[in-house]
Amino acid sequence: WWSAVQMGPPDAILGVTEAFKRDTNPKKINLGVGAYRDDNGKPFILPSVQKAEEIMAKKALDKEYAPISGPADFCKLSIELALGENSEELKAGLNATVQGISGTGSLRVGGAFLSSFFPGNKEVYLPAPSWGNHTPIFKHSGLNVKSYRYYDPKTCGLDFQGALDDISKIPERSTILLHACAHNPTGVDPTSEQWQEMSALIKKKNLFPYFDMAYQGFASGSVDKDAFAVRLFVRDGHQIALAQSYAKNMGLYGERAGAFSLITSSKEEADRTLSQLKILIRPMYSNPPIHGARIVSTILSTPELRSEWLGDVKEMADRIISIRSKLRSTLENLGSKRNWQHITDQIGMFCFTGMNAEQSTRLSNDFSIYLTKDGRISMAGVTTKNVEYLAHGINEVTK
Ligand code: LMR
Repeated sequence: WWSAVQMGPPDAILGVTEAFKRDTNPKKINLGVGAYRDDNGKPFILPSVQKAEEIMAKKALDKEYAPISGPADFCKLSIELALGENSEELKAGLNATVQGISGTGSLRVGGAFLSSFFPGNKEVYLPAPSWGNHTPIFKHSGLNVKSYRYYDPKTCGLDFQGALDDISKIPERSTILLHACAHNPTGVDPTSEQWQEMSALIKKKNLFPYFDMAYQGFASGSVDKDAFAVRLFVRDGHQIALAQSYAKNMGLYGERAGAFSLITSSKEEADRTLSQLKILIRPMYSNPPIHGARIVSTILSTPELRSEWLGDVKEMADRIISIRSKLRSTLENLGSKRNWQHITDQIGMFCFTGMNAEQSTRLSNDFSIYLTKDGRISMAGVTTKNVEYLAHGINEVTK
């Protein structure tokens, strides 16, 4: 049956981990996938998550199916985390929220919904560049993927004018994908003034904003600050779509806990759209996994745990901010002729170093330092123990 099936390429991001695992060099570093590591390079189980699991274990909870849309408390707590507890839209019941299989699954459910029901164009415009999985997710949903300018390789910063020019040319009633904070892969976010301008333009052009918020808390260390753009757009009257993930900000990578929401124009519209989301989910995976969602709900609904979690998020964000400075100063002290200011200007989990595919490949081949071919490094994998070896490698391949 399968003689015509060709061998596919490894995943651009997860394939890096496979190559890393095969390498026997004791100095090897994995800066491919965006997964937080502590300063010893070890996966970090958040203390707040551990405590939530202890609370859950004592309750001996059953393993019954979750509802198709996930547990109601999880959905409510998730959208409140995004929009804020005092959101007028939430008080009016304008949200249709379902649990998704982490960020990817939430984006995919949203893609399926747009593909079936979006009354405008079936085009989704992504920032260039965007997270490598966005294109396949939306194509797989039956949508056409296009792009707008976002990153300026000359400054390693935002091409704001380019973005505005391109957005103003997007046909009306198209979907525009926005990274809510900590843009992946570039680590470059608009300022609050720039977000305001983008919101006004997107409104004027009658575009549908679809936010991917995979890193709430990771950009600034504060979940409220990082929700600025999402809350601004909602306040400006946009009816947004929103995908959320708890992979990074709770370290729940393998638990696959996330959420997809639509903010609609009425409670009745929210009910109708929710009914269709459930109809789409049921044949895809029936209902979502329960363990991660319970951890999230326990943390968000227990005041002491919630504040402990906010501290855990800040600790992760702060470690990344301090290791950015260390990497930059180490490169400068090695006498690198390049300007490395963008390492500390960029935010969130990633640094878009500006290294090209050839340099990135050399770093992997000659130094056992693994990263994606676009020159992105996960700052979360850099530690005080490996930063000098990393800086040495980067300096050598960029001479
Ligand atoms: C990444 O970009 O490394 C993360 O979002 C993990 C993933 O699934 O790609």
